[in-house]
Amino acid sequence: MSEILCKEELEKLRDLEEKMRSSLKESRFRHTVSVAQTAAALAMVNDISLYQALTAGMLHDCAKCYKDRELLEKCKKKGIEISLTEEQNPSLLHAKYGAYLAEHRYGIKDPEVLSAIRCHTTGKPAMSTLDKIIFIADYIEPYRIHTEMLPYIRKLSFENLDKGLVFILKRTLEYLETTDQPLDEMTEKTYEYYSALDTEEAPRI
Ligand SMILES: [Fe+2]
Ligand SMILES: [Fe+2]
Repeated sequence: MSEILCKEELEKLRDLEEKMRSSLKESRFRHTVSVAQTAAALAMVNDISLYQALTAGMLHDCAKCYKDRELLEKCKKKGIEISLTEEQNPSLLHAKYGAYLAEHRYGIKDPEVLSAIRCHTTGKPAMSTLDKIIFIADYIEPYRIHTEMLPYIRKLSFENLDKGLVFILKRTLEYLETTDQPLDEMTEKTYEYYSALDTEEAPRI
């Protein structure tokens, strides 16, 4: 069962929220708070730590304020590995650089929280429950309006995290195919890994 937050945790979360308020633009900040709240709700349903879910949700886009060129430069400077897809689409790097900032600027030491921030854009094979929750919360938070299927995906994700995850990965890959953005190899790997585990057909809509 998810825990009741202690006073110290509430203070830390409030502090992170204020830091995000001052470093992100208004719409990104609203999305951030919404991801944290959605992640907390998913944590309650899936019996994992509320504090981890709120912290990871609050910080998941902490590097979203940088331009592509800046992200590339900063990652190179800090020795963060950059894949070919990230070289072509540097905005993806806000996840890896976000994990770096979470640790070095915001003092997060919890490797599970850092992992969830690091893989929130592409996922990865064998994700933890927290990784999945942040990935899904980022896609389904209430202010998102990017697909008419959101009501279905939200319900599916709250009923079954893995089914929600596979559905989102499939939709992301299908969407990328319709754009000139390169297909991300990690998103593909994650989809292959989880769709192989998912033996039941997703219900037709
Ligand atoms: Fe993001
Ligand atoms: Fe996000």
